[in-house]
Amino acid sequence: MLTEKIENALNHQIGVEEHSSRIYLAMAIWCETHGYPGAANFLYAQSDEERMHMLKLVHYVNDRGGVARLGSLEAPVLSYGSLLEVFQAVLKHEQYVSSEINKVYGLTLEERDYTTGQFMQWYIAEQIEEESTMRGILDKMELAGGERGGIFHIDKELDAMAAASGAAEAE
Ligand code: FEO
Repeated sequence: MLTEKIENALNHQIGVEEHSSRIYLAMAIWCETHGYPGAANFLYAQSDEERMHMLKLVHYVNDRGGVARLGSLEAPVLSYGSLLEVFQAVLKHEQYVSSEINKVYGLTLEERDYTTGQFMQWYIAEQIEEESTMRGILDKMELAGGERGGIFHIDKELDAMAAASGAAEAE
């Protein structure tokens, strides 16, 4: 059984993950309509991943005797100045998500809910991986310095990363 505080915190996190999914969907649409098909595929896949993060929480809350609740969400940003700006926003957002996950984890310790604490550790590990992936992409973009050839190459690489993550999921 979840305490009310934990149930509320997990429901808040459901909203954070759902919002992340919509933010990346909006970014994917921007990329697809601005000549970056690889980045679009990468962000569509990222959006799906965030939906999976949300669903994992939904099932956990329901399985532990709570009720998953969906709230209203802020509209995502629809327009960006450049591909670099998109990925800077992704990293910033992931850093925010990490801090929210750490808050939930901290609460599980306060409430001595070690089962939920263990469940949240999956999210902590996932955030480390996502932040590191996004930092890697940003480093490459900064090295390319907005140069057309470099950005074109990064777009291709993002396409390959999206295909690889899709293949891993299908296994
Ligand atoms: Fe599920 Fe990347 O936050």
